Amino acid sequence: MSLLFTNIRTLYGIQSAESTVLKGSQLGVVAQINNAWLSIHDGLISGFGEMQTMSTQIDVSSFKEVISVNDQLILPTWCDSHTHIVFAGSREDEFVSRIKGVSYETIAKNGGGILNSAKKLNDTSEDDLYISASARLRSLIKMGTGAIEIKSGYGLSLAGEIKMLRVIKRLKESFEIPIKSTFLGAHAFPAEFKNNQQAYIDLIINEMLPAIQKENLADYIDVFCENGFFNADQTAEILSAGKKYGLKAKIHANQLNYSGGIQVGVAYNAVSVDHLECVGDAEIETLKNSNTIGTILPSAAFFLGISYQPARKMIDEGIAIALASDFNPGSSPSGNMSFVFALACTQLKMTPEEAFNAVTHNGAHAMELGKEMGSITIGKKANIIITKKIPSLAFIPYSFGSNLIDQVFINGKKYE
Ligand code: NIG
Ligand code: FE
Repeated sequence: MSLLFTNIRTLYGIQSAESTVLKGSQLGVVAQINNAWLSIHDGLISGFGEMQTMSTQIDVSSFKEVISVNDQLILPTWCDSHTHIVFAGSREDEFVSRIKGVSYETIAKNGGGILNSAKKLNDTSEDDLYISASARLRSLIKMGTGAIEIKSGYGLSLAGEIKMLRVIKRLKESFEIPIKSTFLGAHAFPAEFKNNQQAYIDLIINEMLPAIQKENLADYIDVFCENGFFNADQTAEILSAGKKYGLKAKIHANQLNYSGGIQVGVAYNAVSVDHLECVGDAEIETLKNSNTIGTILPSAAFFLGISYQPARKMIDEGIAIALASDFNPGSSPSGNMSFVFALACTQLKMTPEEAFNAVTHNGAHAMELGKEMGSITIGKKANIIITKKIPSLAFIPYSFGSNLIDQVFINGKKYE
């Protein structure tokens, strides 16, 4: 299978194969070629360059298909490293309560929130969950997502968590994009464990983790480390157990409070600590001296109406950051990464180049997919976005809310 794109207005996101996670001033650099070509062989990017010199570099007649994309841009697909797209039902009633002034924490305390989704999920069959999650994933791919991480965490029982992780496994088997699976049994304490939290932690450690290992159902382990949910000591206990099962950490930290989540995540060498609305000097110092990526989820802050993450300060201090959607029914019922891109620019004051690298290249690294995804690099997967006829990369966040994606190619094949 060979495919050649010609007359690309601008090809964005070129990186060398050696390029690692981008930090500091590097985050703001996006290599591009105007009036470009891009070739694909067997689902992988095989070459690119300027139209002017194309005929000296490749034999155009050898390509099975040649597509001229006048005035359209080509970019790598978005790499969404934090989602909860397996869920049942919806929670717009809680959304309306929040509009009227009830807080997210109060809703959760009264049995709503995550426990509301858990009840719905436990009443839904694996097949029905698979059908609804597949529909969500298809629409995300059409919106430009070409790699994704998906969490469990709405089961909160052995059967429910295994059911969710089996759904994610089926998605991995049936979709062509890379999918990473994260076990989030420690998302909330079920009501029956309210007065005996340790018993739920023991259930996670002694029953859920062995069952997950048996079916090889997870790549990572996550904990919602937050006041009112799992404290830092409980998080440490769960991450330490996960490590024994070969699961690296990717955790929810510091969304609503200074929970110590960042510190415990870094202590366990987490691949990423995610959310980060509450970040002060101590948290910045901890992240700076680590290999952990700080994953910022601005659409959750937007939807809950809480303060945004201090992305500018984190970037200027040299911390590696990624951006993700957090698609879930409670705090971010959208997986639109073009909107995340726009929020990063308008609210977090990231430049379009910084935000672009954080939704592509660094997002891939936050899923340990940096070698195969996230940039225009020879040998990487040909998961690419062809935009509508727009003038520049900055036009995407500038035109927030518009759908500027014309076509998506996954492994070099048009996604229909
Ligand atoms: O990432 N913060 C914890 N978990 C999700 C929200 C879960 C929910 O409200 O259903 C999040 O925001
Ligand atoms: Fe989340």
